[in-house]
Amino acid sequence: MQIVTQAQAPETFAGKSNERTSRRALITGASSGMGLEYAELLAAQKVNLVLAARRKEPMEKLAAELRRKYGVEVVVEPIDLAVPGAAARLKTNLDEKSLQIDILVNNAGYGLHGDFLDTSLERTTNMIQLNITTVTELSFIFGQDMAARGTGHILLIASILSFQPVPGFAAYAATKSYVLSFGEALHDEMHSRGVTVTCLCPGHTETGFDAAASAPVSPVLRFLTMKARPTAETGLRALWKGKASVLPGFLNNIIVFSNRLTPRSMQRAVMKSVTGA
Ligand SMILES: NC(=O)c1ccc[n+]([C@@H]2O[C@H](COP(=O)([O-])OP(=O)(O)OC[C@H]3O[C@@H](n4cnc5c(N)ncnc54)[C@H](OP(=O)(O)O)[C@@H]3O)[C@@H](O)[C@H]2O)c1
Repeated sequence: MQIVTQAQAPETFAGKSNERTSRRALITGASSGMGLEYAELLAAQKVNLVLAARRKEPMEKLAAELRRKYGVEVVVEPIDLAVPGAAARLKTNLDEKSLQIDILVNNAGYGLHGDFLDTSLERTTNMIQLNITTVTELSFIFGQDMAARGTGHILLIASILSFQPVPGFAAYAATKSYVLSFGEALHDEMHSRGVTVTCLCPGHTETGFDAAASAPVSPVLRFLTMKARPTAETGLRALWKGKASVLPGFLNNIIVFSNRLTPRSMQRAVMKSVTGA
């Protein structure tokens, strides 16, 4: 796990734009939050884009802005990625337009805050479909293409909640444990096929996440909150460097490191108080 402090992030995000020229990235969840930041950062490096999420309007607005500012091609694909078979449908849509994907930013996801038994099972399984099944399917479908070409990059978005059980976010945290475990294993498996797989594990970040999860923000959580831009920068920098995983923010790293020194019962208790469960 690479440690990156918040202060380091903006200064060291340069990127070698030549390498990225003419490449195309698919960013899921590109209508809000960190997805907007990956889009802007990649466009600034002259990477062409496909933006995918349910809400068309914010993606069209972003696409127009990025085309104007950076002269890149941006295609908008409105799609509900929590519907079974959505990943294959998205691939078919892109194939029909002859759009090859060189970089997959597997970012769409959401959380559900509250007791598991007080949350509708339908909402929980919808979240699992998006956070686990679709992420897995997209990694397979686009990973196969990349491996056939012997080159490609996949960024998976796990979480600081990947590292321990989290009362109040039980199923969400478990989906993110899956993403981290899956992604780090793929990092090793796909390396020999020329595909880089990197997991970004954000701590609490200022996006639409809390509203989507109906989650309260406790004073401790507010103190730990990072901005979306440095979090996205950290993820992309780790991707270009070929890291297996990265955790942005010094305090987030301290929290995860402390897990090595404490029993799981204590980790659960700390998370319970931080997430306000
Ligand atoms: N913010 C945090 O504190 C935090 C911490 C750790 C990890 N993460 C992870 O970071 C990723 C990005 O989230 P964010 O923080 O940027 O939150 P956000 O602002 O709520 O963005 C979530 C994105 O996912 C898309 N999405 C949600 N459901 C979808 C569906 N069914 N089909 C297609 N797209 C869907 C949303 O677009 P539409 O609503 O338009 O579909 C939106 O663009 C997520 O995987 C999240 O779990 C966030």
